Amino acid sequence: MNLNREANFLEPEFQILYPLVATQQNISCWVARGIANLIRHKAARGEMCVLGLATGATPLAVYRELVRLHKCEGLSFNNVITFNLDEYYGLSRNDANSYWQFMHRHLFNHIDIKSENINIPDGSVGLDDIEEYCDSYEAKMASVGGIDVQLLGIGRTGHIGFNEPGASVFSGTHLVGLAEQTRKDAAVDFGGIKNVPTLAITMGIKTILNASKIVLLAWGAKKASILQKALEGPIGPMVPASYLQVHQNVSIFIDHKAASCLSSVTSDIKN
Ligand code: GLP
Repeated sequence: MNLNREANFLEPEFQILYPLVATQQNISCWVARGIANLIRHKAARGEMCVLGLATGATPLAVYRELVRLHKCEGLSFNNVITFNLDEYYGLSRNDANSYWQFMHRHLFNHIDIKSENINIPDGSVGLDDIEEYCDSYEAKMASVGGIDVQLLGIGRTGHIGFNEPGASVFSGTHLVGLAEQTRKDAAVDFGGIKNVPTLAITMGIKTILNASKIVLLAWGAKKASILQKALEGPIGPMVPASYLQVHQNVSIFIDHKAASCLSSVTSDIKN
């Protein structure tokens, strides 16, 4: 993988980029520059750039680099609209563990995006209104032309967003139950598993696959086994991330530890 070449997210491709020497930091900066190039490309044409964003530890270095590009290299987010993948259900946006807070803490508070262009599912919507709310989230995405680039992490259950095993490929934004493993993984943040919400609002698999470009990031040995299933196993609901195999424009960036269970990795590091 040649990190000296600019990332171009306009060219369709399905690729697994498994760098032998590049670090998580280098790759994240490269992905951030790819996003920046797309934002600038769209701005030059007077177009909005629609980003699908993820939470978790995985994309943090990408967000740090986007903030740096804004502060040090004049990258403007004036023409950017964002849609976040998911939010814990039952948390208000003021809750320290809400993804609303996470995104503002790590990205939105430090860039010039217009607040009205930030979309994060509202975890405080009443149960009676949830279906209508989810439909309106989908409609809003459609009304701005859909997502140009969707950033994804992967959970140890194989979830993307919060689409846990059993997820339908036809699902739009909806309310879901969280898998026990996912709640365990979040327990540290919440000070114990009993405090971790049992439900979440998430974009569905169909929503995610509708994005023009998908960029999946994964770091470290704890993601190795599920990545092998997602990328080399059968496509189906038991490993929701496996549905990415049917998308025509996906880039998967993983470090060597995350790639350690893959039997077939392609690396263009020599190119
Ligand atoms: C959460 C998020 C996912 C994310 C996953 C992985 O469950 N809803 O979108 O991909 O965590 O988290 P991490 O990046 O911390 O490994």
